[in-house]
Amino acid sequence: MYPSDIFSRMYSGEEESKVYPKKEEAPSEVDDVLQTNLFNVMLNRRSQRNFEDRDVEDWKLEMIFAAADTAPTAGGFQGFEIYHVKNADIKAKLVQAANNQPYVSAPVTLVFCMNPSRVRMNFPLNIIKKFSVQDATLAAAYAQLAAHALGVSSVWIGMIDEQKAMQALGTDLVPACILCLGYPKKMLQAKPKRNLSELIHEI
Ligand SMILES: Cc1cc2nc3c(=O)[nH]c(=O)nc-3n(C[C@H](O)[C@H](O)[C@H](O)COP(=O)(O)O)c2cc1C
Repeated sequence: MYPSDIFSRMYSGEEESKVYPKKEEAPSEVDDVLQTNLFNVMLNRRSQRNFEDRDVEDWKLEMIFAAADTAPTAGGFQGFEIYHVKNADIKAKLVQAANNQPYVSAPVTLVFCMNPSRVRMNFPLNIIKKFSVQDATLAAAYAQLAAHALGVSSVWIGMIDEQKAMQALGTDLVPACILCLGYPKKMLQAKPKRNLSELIHEI
């Protein structure tokens, strides 16, 4: 079963130490809300900056985290960390760190940080750092799509003052991006993208 598999991915072997104890039993509800066609999920996603003032269910958050945890990573070392910022003061500091973009203080604020020290490969440091940027970015992209599949909208924040954000989080890990999530005040239509013939360069 898809939902139980995706949950167990996050918590296998950690029965007693769940970070997000489920308030609801997810599987019966998942079928009603989950968009399972990956291509439709991709096609319909649209950045959202106006969120309703209501929480995202814990079981949906679990699925979003579990989806992030499925992303490919360099050498399989998972060179990234996710900070789930719940503290209002820290959120306010992150708003400042993100050039005062107010929606950074969304119902759910996730900061994806690089953790190159996890990438134990015998390559130059610049390559290892680049790997961890890609690890963090891919994980955030997977989380963003998973959220959309669950009816949760988001915006990706790349405009970050790294030092301010690190100070706010109390970490020496550099943030790659912030993902702001919540229920949209109004669902938006996906933006048109480039024509594929402009995008693809056959050589
Ligand atoms: C690397 C990157 C950085 C971004 N930074 C910001 C940002 O700082 N603030 C913001 O409001 N949106 C940001 N976005 C969201 C883009 O503005 C948005 O994805 C783009 O306009 C396309 O719209 P769509 O996501 O609805 O397709 C960023 C997206 C990416 C991928």
